[in-house]
Order: sequence, then C-alpha cells, then structure tokens
Amino acid sequence: MSTRRDFMGMALGGFTALGGIGALYAMKRSWDPLPSVKSAGFTTIDLSAAAENVLNVEKWRGKPIFILKLASNVPSNPRQIVVGGSKYLVVIGLCTHLGCIPSFDANAEKNSKFKCACHGGEYDINAVETFGPPPRPLDIPPFKLNGTSLVLGEEGSEYKKMLADGLTLKV
Ligand code: FES
Repeated sequence: MSTRRDFMGMALGGFTALGGIGALYAMKRSWDPLPSVKSAGFTTIDLSAAAENVLNVEKWRGKPIFILKLASNVPSNPRQIVVGGSKYLVVIGLCTHLGCIPSFDANAEKNSKFKCACHGGEYDINAVETFGPPPRPLDIPPFKLNGTSLVLGEEGSEYKKMLADGLTLKV
C-alpha cells in the first residue's frame, strides 16, 4: 500500500536524481572541448563556452594550444587576451626548453601554474618561465579576435602588438 511517506520519498528521490543529472551535465560541459571549426589552416574557437581555470587543449597545425579562461582574481598582464570582459591565456603548449607538453597545476587558484615533467621547468599563470631550464615564456600562436571567437592562424592587431612588444616569438 502506497503511503504519503512513500510519495515523499519518491519525490525527494526524483529531485535528487535531477540534481545529479544537472551536476553531471555541468561536469561534462567542463570536460567537453570548446566548440571549434577548422578550415584552410585556420581554427575558430568559441571562447564564450570556456569555464574559469579549466585548461582547454585545442590542436592547431599539429601543435597543442592551451586556452585558459583566467579566474577573475588573476591580475591583468599584457600576455592575456580580453574578450567580453574576461581574461584568457592562449599559448602553444610546448615547453620552450626541449618541447615537452607541460601540465596545468590548478590546485590553488592564486598559484596556478604550468609544470614541465621533463626537466622540472615551471611557468606562472601567464605562461612566463619561473623555474628550471625553459629559456622563455610559452609562445603565443598567431590569432585574431572575431567577437567572442578566436581565429588561430590569422594575425590580428592584438597579436601583432604582442609581437612588437616582444611578448612572444613568431612561430
Ligand atoms: S623540456 Fe620542459 S623543462 Fe626541459
């Protein structure tokens, strides 16, 4: 015989299941790659889908490209790209020492950094070398901004300014 208590239990179970599905969807969204379109050597990436402090790795001309939406408390830096009021780091994910792929250490938001396991090199949140053998920051790929989209492979004015200011080598 079904009682009011059974009904409440089922209703509560339903809400819990819905909450679980919502949490799973949010987790899946943060694991999914950012929406991107590839054509004629260019890769267009929609930055608006990025989650803060979650590293996205795209591929462009065979190279891993790190795309990181920075937490709002990260201080501004000329190596960052600002889109829609949010700050992003876009760099080639190859260590400037001997080309290994660094990992992103997001343990403490304030001290997030990139670490290269090959020879212990480290880079700060702006991908500037802070420790070990890397001779320079992670390189910034040619990019152009188009609304909230990033076009990899095209040299826009923001990228040209970074080059002129000596913030990256041309790749
Ligand atoms: S290749 Fe990264 S520290 Fe040597």
